[in-house]
Amino acid sequence: MKTQVAIIGGGPAGLLLSQLLNRSGISTVVLERKSRDYVLSRIRAGVLEWGTVEMLREAGAGDRMNRDGIVHDGCLFSSSERMVRVDFKESCGRQVMVYGQTEVTRDLYDAQDAIGATVLHDVSDVVLNDLDSDAPYVTYTVDGVAQRLECDYVAGCDGFHGVSRPSIPADVRQEYEKVYPFGWLGVLSNTPPAAEELIYANHPRGFALASMRNATLSRYYIQVDLADKVEDWSDDAFWAELKRRLPPSVAETMVTGPSIEKSIAPLRSFVSEPMRWGRLFLCGDAAHIVPPTGAKGLNLAASDVHYLVAAMKKAYLGGDLSGLETYSADALSRVWQAMRFSWSMTTMLHRFPDQNAFEQRMQDSELAYLETSEARRLVLAENYTGLPF
Ligand code: APR
Ligand code: PHB
Repeated sequence: MKTQVAIIGGGPAGLLLSQLLNRSGISTVVLERKSRDYVLSRIRAGVLEWGTVEMLREAGAGDRMNRDGIVHDGCLFSSSERMVRVDFKESCGRQVMVYGQTEVTRDLYDAQDAIGATVLHDVSDVVLNDLDSDAPYVTYTVDGVAQRLECDYVAGCDGFHGVSRPSIPADVRQEYEKVYPFGWLGVLSNTPPAAEELIYANHPRGFALASMRNATLSRYYIQVDLADKVEDWSDDAFWAELKRRLPPSVAETMVTGPSIEKSIAPLRSFVSEPMRWGRLFLCGDAAHIVPPTGAKGLNLAASDVHYLVAAMKKAYLGGDLSGLETYSADALSRVWQAMRFSWSMTTMLHRFPDQNAFEQRMQDSELAYLETSEARRLVLAENYTGLPF
């Protein structure tokens, strides 16, 4: 088989890239290790920057989001001392869309089906070959049969544990990492959201987040020890702990119910440079991971895709390779800004095991500054709603 761009991984990064390239007349084949049902069973964050919203619309995958997504003008930050609202619209004139990543992925699969794109599932043994030549190819196995896909370029969209990043020689790669000493226990439940906007809570017992998917589906998180096991957390224990950490006025009125999903995720900041080697281009979690505080994961994948699609169009439609040459630097400059933002949000809002009284006062002062300074709120708003591509 032959294609112009071989895409490894059918998560949101790979599917959005495939969809936008196909719509520009550039052929792709997506190779995904898992089944479609498996990919669609993963639950991730649910806040889209406006740039991501516009890309999904441009990809022809925005109809359901336009109908069912909820536009938010702001969000709340609470501590035992105060409750601060950041009004994105007032501060920087922008908004975000609350719409689950699982739904984004489903819409992208439907959009790929509608244009007849090639997405192969249950593909194993993917190996990227001759990436530093003019004629790379990918070998893989599907239904027990070994296959070969020839291509001009390979896009590595196969997440943190994929094969693409390790295909770049170790002596070329520089990796930066921070592992946080806690995890997030997340619960999805068929209950109305606790509040109209998201609440990020800094509490002496640890961070909590009240989020949502729609009017009858809520998503909540609490900071937990890394040693904790999901089995140790009954629904009752989760709700009790969440209520302790949210503002009392919210905790008193919120509706609880059975969890329909419960899981613990570790928190990590990670960047691998460069994002391009020879004819391989990394996008999304394959190149970087952010802690979920601020919901930048999917949005960063979308911005990588933005730069790569622009570069591919310039190369294929205009014969100009300069965008491909600068892809890594272009994508990384925005990646590092999102790294800084999600790291600062994580640092401001969580209890660290070795946190002393001074550091606690620093967190309180951050929130006090957010309350009193329009400039500080603008900084948060422009980062939360997404820096320009
Ligand atoms: N071969 C083929 N596919 C693979 C391989 C492989 N060797 N390894 C991983 N994959 C697939 C995974 O099964 C997954 O479906 O690549 C896909 C990668 O998807 P994500 O992990 O979702 O990463 P990405 O598309 O970059 O999305 C970025 O979305 O999923 C979130 O946490 C992620 O928020 C981040 C954003
Ligand atoms: C979510 O709704 O899952 C969510 C929202 C905001 C975050 C992280 C996760 O910062």
